[in-house]
Amino acid sequence: QPSAVASKSNQSFIDRMKNENRQVLIMYGSQTGTAEEMSGRLAKDLTRYSKKAVVVDPEDIECEDLNRLNEVEDALLVLCIATYGEGDPTDNAVTLVEYLNAGDCDLSGVRFAVFGLGNKTYEHFNEIGKQMDQQLEKLGAKRIFHLGLGDDDANLEEDFMIWREAFLPKVAEEFGWELNTEAETMRQYQMEPVEEGKALFKGEFGRLGAYERPRPPFDVKNPYLATVAINEELHTEHSDRSCRHIEFSVEGSRIRYEAGDHLAVFPTNDPVLVDRLIEMLQFEPDHAFRLVNVDEDASKRHPFPCPTTFRTALSHYVDICAPVKSHVLKAISEYCTDEGEKEFLNKLATANEEGLKEYARYIVKERRSIVDVLTDQKTCKPPIEYLLELLPRLQARYYSIASSPRLNEEKIAICAVVTKYTIGDRLINGVCTRYLTTKLAGSKSPVFVRKSTMRLPHRTTTQVIMIGPGTGFAPFRGFLQDRQFHKNAGKEVGAMHLYYGCRHPDHDYIYKEELAKFQEDQVLTHLECAFSRAQEKKIYVQDRLWETRERIWDAIQGGAHVYICGDARNMARDVQATLQKIFREVGGKTETESVAYFKDMEKTKRYQADVWS
Ligand code: 2AM
Repeated sequence: QPSAVASKSNQSFIDRMKNENRQVLIMYGSQTGTAEEMSGRLAKDLTRYSKKAVVVDPEDIECEDLNRLNEVEDALLVLCIATYGEGDPTDNAVTLVEYLNAGDCDLSGVRFAVFGLGNKTYEHFNEIGKQMDQQLEKLGAKRIFHLGLGDDDANLEEDFMIWREAFLPKVAEEFGWELNTEAETMRQYQMEPVEEGKALFKGEFGRLGAYERPRPPFDVKNPYLATVAINEELHTEHSDRSCRHIEFSVEGSRIRYEAGDHLAVFPTNDPVLVDRLIEMLQFEPDHAFRLVNVDEDASKRHPFPCPTTFRTALSHYVDICAPVKSHVLKAISEYCTDEGEKEFLNKLATANEEGLKEYARYIVKERRSIVDVLTDQKTCKPPIEYLLELLPRLQARYYSIASSPRLNEEKIAICAVVTKYTIGDRLINGVCTRYLTTKLAGSKSPVFVRKSTMRLPHRTTTQVIMIGPGTGFAPFRGFLQDRQFHKNAGKEVGAMHLYYGCRHPDHDYIYKEELAKFQEDQVLTHLECAFSRAQEKKIYVQDRLWETRERIWDAIQGGAHVYICGDARNMARDVQATLQKIFREVGGKTETESVAYFKDMEKTKRYQADVWS
């Protein structure tokens, strides 16, 4: 990292705002990069009014300094904040949320607006956005625009487009800013050549050579290059899908983990798609370059590790598979020689009824990536360095760890169904699962462990009920290994109930032999399988829960911990409903009591979920 960045971070963002004449502070709570990217877009929007913002990762600041925000004249605070897991802030926003909720900060004189990112499949939809919107007002700040509630289950990009479209004029009106149309198309980064012989980034994230000379701690900014030890198929030849069991060796890395944690994997883009971009846009893939922020005071000097080559950037640093964001469509529309194509791309990027409808169809429903759009809009030829500035960063993917360190602390297992489907004549591959299928034993991949709160009970004698259909079984493999270890060590262990589900016992019953062994060893005391497609009528895990309701209620009353892992959209909801039905019909509780009982189990961590959508 250049020293300019280091010295800058010693300066408080408040001083930067004062010294550099920036009245807008944008902070983000981001787990997968979306809120961060949106913050950048809002900051760029402000340049239309010749205004500069300070974009801040709350993890990098002293939150107490916010108390001084009213020293900045006409200060505007914008939060782009995601809600994560069970209504929690993202990792990088934990301290900020705690600080603001503590109520000791005085924000009188400050104006604010909040855009929340959430997902309606989860119970606590946009909890943090809502909380912060209320809290900032309590702290004396003035809301100048209504809370935005982005829903990733439906169309987050559309929600953001609509919010931002109305937000900007409102801000301009509030402060009396004038539009400066010339500034609008300004690029944020300029390309600079790189001296011959200079070391280039080859896929590392933090520092050059990070993979040759690994230095803990390993995290999202500094992943560890693990070696793949095992990569095998879990489905039988009767299955029309593929599910991989992959073990990473982290020997010598000093990485620690627990059953229940997640493993983040950094994928590489499909070389076929990278080659398609090279062919369509006609640039020299091995050209070394550097993108440098034109705003010299910006805290982010480069959009991704630089210097590097076009091919490396397209392979490791930017996302070329995600549905294209509206601002990217707008920006590249300028580079169509065909007027019809230009108009079409412009329409897609416009937040009116027609534009939003087309965007929802062409980009979201039909899932068009930048590669698809450029293939379709044949005359659209944006310069590669501009495209690299516009595309979002390629993010790590998180998998529930499917092993216990008690069995082998140097290996970390995950399992994943390979995403692959067609829309029309286009084959869509999941970015990371496609990548993982290519990672045979002996190859290497950047990873790191993210701590979770899902844990086995402290006492090995406490009963556990695990509900995990499909790859939702992953963390429970770790739990079973853990308890097996304790049992082998002579400790008394409590009953373990597993509710497992898949389509057919001969197709996709993963870890079947291992489960039989756990049963034989009396670690797994109750196994209930729901095979959904082995008979006429579908049978799901919740049906098995209901069949065994007396035993479930007994166990729960006896203090059992309940765990659920897998699909958040339908499975988790249906299972929750079944559990509450058991509380009512076997436990004799009323409707209200059963809800309260469930909430209490959640609060006391006797019900824990690791679900995804
Ligand atoms: P299906 O795909 O045959 O409908 C693992 O994916 C298993 O979870 C599959 O057997 C799948 O069945 C099943 N499943 C699908 N929807 C579910 C739901 N709402 N509740 C529980 N299991 C479900």
